[in-house]
Parts: sequence; structure tokens; C-alpha cells
Amino acid sequence: MNAVNRKTEWNRGMAVGSVICFLVNLVVLLLLLTGLLVVEKYGQFTATFKDNSANYAYIAFCVILLIWITYFYFFFENRKLLADAKRVTMVFVLVEMCVALSWAFGRYVNIYARPVALAGLLALTLVGRRDAIFLNVVCAFLIFILDNFASTAQTPVDVYSSLVIAFSAGMIAIFLGNKIKTRLQVVWIGIIIVIPMEIIIFLLEICSLAAAGATEAAIATETVFRSILTNMGFGLLGGLLSAVFFLAILPVFESLFNCLTAFRLRELTDTDAKLLRKLKEGAPGTYNHSAVVAQLAEACAESIGEDADLARAAAFYHDVGKLHQPEYFTENQDEYNLHDELTPELSADIIRSHTQDGFDLIRNHHLPQFFADVAREHHGTLPIRYFYAKALKMTDGELNIEDFSYTGPKPRSKIAAIIMIADASEAVSRALTKRSPEEVEKAVSGIIEERMDLEQFSDCDITMKDLTVIRETLVNTLSGVYHHRVKYPTIKYTRKGGKTMGEGE
Ligand SMILES: [Fe+2]
Ligand SMILES: [Fe+2]
Repeated sequence: MNAVNRKTEWNRGMAVGSVICFLVNLVVLLLLLTGLLVVEKYGQFTATFKDNSANYAYIAFCVILLIWITYFYFFFENRKLLADAKRVTMVFVLVEMCVALSWAFGRYVNIYARPVALAGLLALTLVGRRDAIFLNVVCAFLIFILDNFASTAQTPVDVYSSLVIAFSAGMIAIFLGNKIKTRLQVVWIGIIIVIPMEIIIFLLEICSLAAAGATEAAIATETVFRSILTNMGFGLLGGLLSAVFFLAILPVFESLFNCLTAFRLRELTDTDAKLLRKLKEGAPGTYNHSAVVAQLAEACAESIGEDADLARAAAFYHDVGKLHQPEYFTENQDEYNLHDELTPELSADIIRSHTQDGFDLIRNHHLPQFFADVAREHHGTLPIRYFYAKALKMTDGELNIEDFSYTGPKPRSKIAAIIMIADASEAVSRALTKRSPEEVEKAVSGIIEERMDLEQFSDCDITMKDLTVIRETLVNTLSGVYHHRVKYPTIKYTRKGGKTMGEGE
């Protein structure tokens, strides 16, 4: 996701691995382009090379140069992606698929019917806006290089216009699609990108007619208008095909490369999601608590520029480990408390285990690793105060506080830190008898300060400024969640003589 920290630890092993991964994928890309070239020209491998060796050398050199530039783009801008062979392969598959589809539509349908915004939309959703802008340029150039040699584009004007159309349509789709969350929004983007495409196509057709020596009278003829309208129709098809292909191909990428897109995150937090349904049925109190924490985490993540959808989804799953023994957690208990029968040590053990149980449960359900990490990290190494205090009351001897503490690890991402604070803030605010903004602020400040004193944020890069913004956001959001209600007077209504009468306080 685009909000995940772009810097990563880099060592020689990663550098060698990333270069090998790029080289392997480069060979695959060159083989694909060779295949397209063979189909394009004569259908014969040897004849293609004998007659077009100089052209092929030109294409191969341009592609190698482009991929070399791409490597260095990721080296400076997103080393985390470069260190992940699966994601590098995903980027190459995306580029290869978009280039092949553009080539196929250009050759067999019409040059204007190419799904030109597909690369931009897919890259935006899978790797983020900044990388999508760069990959859109790479795709536009690859199509341009291929067009230079292929017979798909017939005139030099076609070749250059196809570069302009591919680049601009992709860019517009990236800027418009920054916040896409529904399928309808994708279709709208497909329609909107058609507008500049249609203007370019219209002007190009007029230019080519003028270049062909057509007179003004000829331009007005029915045949000419039919030709312009047909090409503009293909332009509209290209825009719509971008949206249709995007909707059809995205789920394949999501499952093949285990990507967390806004669409997948929505599915994972749907009430039909298997593990959440189990939580709702088995531990309704925990489910309700998680839903509020999700709302708080989403607002906090948005306020400090982190991925709000990811924070919301991870928060929904942070306490799924409680499903193993839901009755031992306050939010699922009625009046009877099972811990009354247990020693504080045993109680602490049960409470503590929900973080590791959550981690295992999420992994066993093949849910994203990030959710599992948050489930294990959301209490860090904090002491379980209630049972530590209970144990202190029951003994005169020394107690090891670590026996009453969570085992960690501490939050390793800003989102895990947000969920740690939101989790405690929700529980504390719910317990407040008076929920004025001042009281809520005091409680939230206390939670953040305690975690800072206990060094719970030492493994993540959250800043003081982030913590201040998170505190303000939590106070505002919690005031909305648990807003003050007007106390209605108790009135008993009765009917007397056809009239409604009320009596009460
Ligand atoms: Fe928890
Ligand atoms: Fe929780």
C-alpha cells in the first residue's frame, strides 16, 4: 500500500536479489515483445530476425534502457518494493499484460480502442500513486517503441498520437482514481478519460484529412464524418475497456500477489467476512469494541497521512484472538466474572494469550500478514494492570511484573501504534462516568503518556507531532461516538375520554 513506509533496510543480499529478479523479468519481457514481433511481421521466427535485425536490436536496447531506468527509480523511491521479488514480478506482469493488450487491440480492433488507462488504474491500486505515475510512463513508452516497428500504427502521426493518448489517459485516470472505492467510480473514470482522447482523435482525423489534400467540401461529406465518428466511437470503447479490464483483472492480481487494495480491504471488513462473522457470533462484545476501534483508527490514520482503509481493516481484526475464550473478557461478560475463580497469574495468562492466538488465527485463515502483526503487537509489552494489582494485594513477597505483562513485540508500524492507542482509548472512554471532552482528553493523554513512559513506540517511527494529532482526533471522534444524550423526562401516557394524558417527572 502507498502509505507503508518507503524506506527499508538495504543490504548486499537484497541488492543482488533485486538485480537478479529484474534481469529474469527483463528476459520474460523481451521474450514477450519478440513473440509480438513475430506475430506482427511474418509469423516466422527466423525470417523476422533476418529481415529486421537492426529494428529488433533497437527495440531490445530501448527496452533494456527503460527497465534499467525503472530499476533505479525504485532504488531511490521505493526500495521496499525492490526488496520483494513477488511485488517486482507483479509490476512486470502488470506492464507486460497492459502492453500485450494494447498491442492486440491496436492490431485486431483499432488503434484508438486500446485500454490506455488500464496500466495507470491497476498500478495506482496495487502500488500507489507515485509509482503508478512512473509505470504509466513506462507502459506508454513501451507501446510507443513497439508502434515504431509494428504495422499497427500506420503513419508517424498515429505513432506519436498513441504515445500522447496513452500517457495522458493514464495520468488522468491516476489523478481521478486516487480515492476510488466503488466499481461505479471506476466506470466514471473510464468515461471521463474519453473526453481528452476524443478531442485528440477528432483533431488528428481533421489533420490527416487536410494532409491528404482533402478540400473543405470533402471534409463535410458523409463518409468523412462517418470515419471521424467511428474512430471517436473506438476512443469511447478504449476508455470503457480500461474500466472493464480493470474490474476483471484486479481480483486476479489481488489473489495471485496477495495485495491489499481498497477493494480487498472492504471485502475483508464486510459483515460476511468469515472470521468477523465468527467474532460477531462468538464474542459480540469484542466485535462491537473492534468496530468502534476501527472507526477511531481510520480517523487517526487519515489525520496523520497513513492508509485509513488499512488501519480500519487491521483494527477490525486486532482482538480476534479473544474468540478462543471470549467469556474471560469483560466486554463479553454479564454480571458473573470467571476470573473470580482463578489466580491472578492464570487470569493474566489467559488475557495475555489473545495476542498470539489472534496472530495464529489470522495466519490460519490466510488473511494478510499485516493484520496478524497488528493483532500480536497491539498491547506491546504493557503490564496487565488489573491482575498485577490483584496479585500484589494477595502476596507480601516480590512479584515479577513480566509475569503479568504482554509478551510483545511492540508496535512496529504507525498503524499498529494507532490501534494500540485507539484500543485503550475506546475501553477507557466507555468506562468513564462523565464523558465531557475534557474528561476524554485527560483519559487519552494519560494513555499516550503511559505508553511513551513504557517505551512502547521505540520500534516504530511515530513522531511527537503524530501523537499530538492522534490525541486530538481521538478526542473529537470519541466525543462523536459517545456523544452526550439529552435525558428525557419519564412520562407515563394514558388515554382518558378520547384524549392522551401524560403524567411524570
Ligand atoms: Fe486486545
Ligand atoms: Fe481491543
